[in-house]
Amino acid sequence: MKIIVVKDSIEGGREGFKVFKEALDNGAKVFGLATGSTPETTYAQIVDSDLDFSKCTSINLDEYVGLGANDPQSYHYFMNQHLFSKKPFAHSYLPDGLAKNAKKETARYDALIEKNPIDLQLLGIGQNGHIGFNEPGSSFDGKTQKIRLTESTIEANSRFFENEDQVPKYAYSMGIGSIMKAKKILLEAYGPAKAEVIRKMVKGPITEDVPASILQRHQDVVVIADEAAAALLRS
Ligand code: GLP
Repeated sequence: MKIIVVKDSIEGGREGFKVFKEALDNGAKVFGLATGSTPETTYAQIVDSDLDFSKCTSINLDEYVGLGANDPQSYHYFMNQHLFSKKPFAHSYLPDGLAKNAKKETARYDALIEKNPIDLQLLGIGQNGHIGFNEPGSSFDGKTQKIRLTESTIEANSRFFENEDQVPKYAYSMGIGSIMKAKKILLEAYGPAKAEVIRKMVKGPITEDVPASILQRHQDVVVIADEAAAALLRS
């Protein structure tokens, strides 16, 4: 893992942008994208740039079950607002939170990922080590799944909702097996609440209890963390 420590998320966004630019310059065509507050500064840099993704494909990690694209809390909405409306891709895919049949939806998504091998996958990380919505205990070989969110994730993500009761209990998420197939992975983490999990991800044992720890086995991972999130890596 290559670890880049930055002052704050603004500087992190600039570094994240460089990783996207380099991938694009090197011919990357398929970008795995993420939501949450972490990637916002990278998306802002991309939006402000002249990078052209109009011949590229994006595949997002996850979506809440039960939320449609017009719901302001949905990840569809987030992506349109922060990126796609200003920097369009030829094709942009997310799981369909309103799909009637979970089995069909996960199969549809896996087929899309299979057809569009991911060149660069962007990740944030949950405080419990989840990537996408792959909660602790998720299989390292997993494909797209409908996942029951843990209480800690529901609590952490409730800041985006009016109250905790409104946070969906389930989400569709690309599996860890698919994430690990990406040619290159960029994980960003900011703030003191991520320090402990970043330590576990980088230095701890590789265990399904900390889903992101599997990234130690990937050949090309760049971690961008601010000083607060990287604080426990020194010891
Ligand atoms: C959600 C998303 C993850 C994201 C995580 C951290 O649970 N499914 O992809 O990494 O939140 O969010 P934040 O970046 O807001 O800390």
